[in-house]
Amino acid sequence: MKPQSQPTDFLNPSSATVDAAPELPSPALKIRDVRTIITAPEGCNLIVVKIDTDEPELSGLGCATFCYRHHAVRSMIDDHLKPLLVGRDARQIEEIFQLMRLNAYWRNGPVINNALSGIDMALWDIKAKEAGMPLFQLLGGQCRVGATVYRHADGRDLSEIKENVQKFIDEGVSHIRVQSQGYGGSKSSRPPRPGLPPGVYYDPQAYRRSALHALESVREHFGQDIELLHDVHERLPAAEAVRFAKETEPFRLFFLEDLLSIEHQDWFANVRQVSATPLAMGELFTHPREWTPLIVNRQIDFIRMHISDIGGLTPARKAAILAEQFGVRTAWHGPPDQSPIGHAVNLHLDLVSPNFGIQEFSGFGANTREVFPGCPVLHQGILTPSNRPGIGVGLDEKAAARFPPVEAVTDWTQSRLPDGSLNPP
Ligand code: CO
Repeated sequence: MKPQSQPTDFLNPSSATVDAAPELPSPALKIRDVRTIITAPEGCNLIVVKIDTDEPELSGLGCATFCYRHHAVRSMIDDHLKPLLVGRDARQIEEIFQLMRLNAYWRNGPVINNALSGIDMALWDIKAKEAGMPLFQLLGGQCRVGATVYRHADGRDLSEIKENVQKFIDEGVSHIRVQSQGYGGSKSSRPPRPGLPPGVYYDPQAYRRSALHALESVREHFGQDIELLHDVHERLPAAEAVRFAKETEPFRLFFLEDLLSIEHQDWFANVRQVSATPLAMGELFTHPREWTPLIVNRQIDFIRMHISDIGGLTPARKAAILAEQFGVRTAWHGPPDQSPIGHAVNLHLDLVSPNFGIQEFSGFGANTREVFPGCPVLHQGILTPSNRPGIGVGLDEKAAARFPPVEAVTDWTQSRLPDGSLNPP
């Protein structure tokens, strides 16, 4: 600490005390090691980054999970980022984020962003641990007791869908996503006609009819007391999507998700002109240029980015704050292909953001909770973090090693229309 200087008398500048030297920043906390750990406790590859510092026992964990390209992310971290980062000051999160973002000259994309995210979250974890407080305290303190979540009710037919909705209501869940047969795709890899390539086949019109029927029936059966959501998952051609948003209006959705593919998001302007259904978008976004125009033109109501896919907490905080200025709420992506560390970072942001909307939550299996001690806890539809300093989720490396990465060609993304052509999954 520098010695306290005398207050300056502004009417008499000559009375000012001159300090000998400006205060120096605190000495660096050096990054000693960066490691990537891949584990698949429930059969999905979860990628974790661990950063050790030169202070014994002070390390951080971040989520870098791009389940389907895990080798590429690991190489990005171990072969390219580690040599760039070892020896640097772990306290300079923004500096390191910009350094990583710009270092390869070409930037962006889910492989690079997930690698950045693993580092970025681990640095925030370290900073909050150093401060001795849970991350949400470092980010300004909570403005709600926990994050309200939505759960997924799916089914092969109406009675199964209603059964699953009822199960969540009984658990105290207030917001439920209703899907009929997932996103309308047949899970079987058998083509509908001989001679067609294997794939996950779906018919956009059959999807549209069954989704509307399910939403109508669930609303009628359960009344107005629950909130309903639905995910189109890019299943409809753009003009059909505009019509679909109108058709869902009578069911008073909390939001309609991924109504348009990322390639066709300019159509949101058309949707806005004809439908009052709230819109959620963004789990596939990787660059601010994708969400900024939708936010500032108020063409969507909820941003849904997958935080590790946009580069971590540093860019997510900025997106949340931008959205707040335009009345757009947050609904961060919370799928099973995200580690509990990523889920916890969603939650810390949920707690501190005045414009929090809803949190998607897929639950943690027993294996996951064993590998990641300190997972957020769901009670009566409200998710809360562990009160430990930092992000609050640990990693039991011995347990993680019992669930090695799964090596398989991804097939659920091979979505085809009835004529055999590929379409977004
Ligand atoms: Co989705």
